[in-house]
Amino acid sequence: MAILGGDAETVVREAEEQPTRRLMRMFIAVRTRFAEDALAAAVRGGVRQLVVLGAGLDTFAYRSPFGEKLRIFEVDYPATQEWKRGRLAEAEITVPGWLTFAPVDFERQSLHAGLAAAGFDPSAQTFFTWLGVVPYLSGEAIWATLGFIAGVGGGAHVVFDYSDPPETLSAEMRALHDARAARVEAAGEAWVSYFEADKLRERLMGIGFREVEDLGPAEIAAKYFPERARKGPNRGGHIVRAGTI
Ligand SMILES: C[S@@+](CC[C@H](N)C(=O)[O-])C[C@H]1O[C@@H](n2cnc3c(N)ncnc32)[C@H](O)[C@@H]1O
Repeated sequence: MAILGGDAETVVREAEEQPTRRLMRMFIAVRTRFAEDALAAAVRGGVRQLVVLGAGLDTFAYRSPFGEKLRIFEVDYPATQEWKRGRLAEAEITVPGWLTFAPVDFERQSLHAGLAAAGFDPSAQTFFTWLGVVPYLSGEAIWATLGFIAGVGGGAHVVFDYSDPPETLSAEMRALHDARAARVEAAGEAWVSYFEADKLRERLMGIGFREVEDLGPAEIAAKYFPERARKGPNRGGHIVRAGTI
């Protein structure tokens, strides 16, 4: 709330006025919960670096319970990072010593070079979060990034989300999808990439991941909203956790 400069009452009211976006809001909350829980387990298992890919206004770095034990890199478009740093200053949120900003455009620049310039240590076990970004990227940029993650010498984990192809959705989900897609496209950030779970898993295993957990709509509902599980859709957004160790 502080970084947005908003107030809770207005945000709640606006949300209530948009009931059709409820599923998306739940998905956004869940993917972050899932990623932060997986990160906590990975830190217990030896992870010492976190890379937040396409960080946007993600606030984990400013409330990390791990302190100096976990070095954090935020990666985003240079202009978006500049804007975020302005928001942080305005909200009087301190940039902690364990955080480094690494400006990178995934479509045009090398993540490897951008992280190396920021002091990333490829020999340390690393966790990557990549939330709400994959749908906006080309296949080429997605697989270049996943290839880089799979090659981190110290071992790596990644959590990201994606959607089933629109043509495989139910009529109701397709209508919600098309409305959201039109909104993000009008905002200048079109959705361009979708995956089929089986093919995605196969390709991830093919590039060096050894474990892939893929939660589709039914698994997400069963885990986080059991009371809604039987009513929910079967296709839609997925959350993936993959690891090389
Ligand atoms: C929908 S926001 C998600 C923000 C945050 N990760 C979250 O979960 O709320 C997408 C983010 O990806 C970033 N992004 C999209 N395409 C990118 C690219 N080609 N290079 C770098 N960042 C990109 C955007 O700037 C934005 O911060």
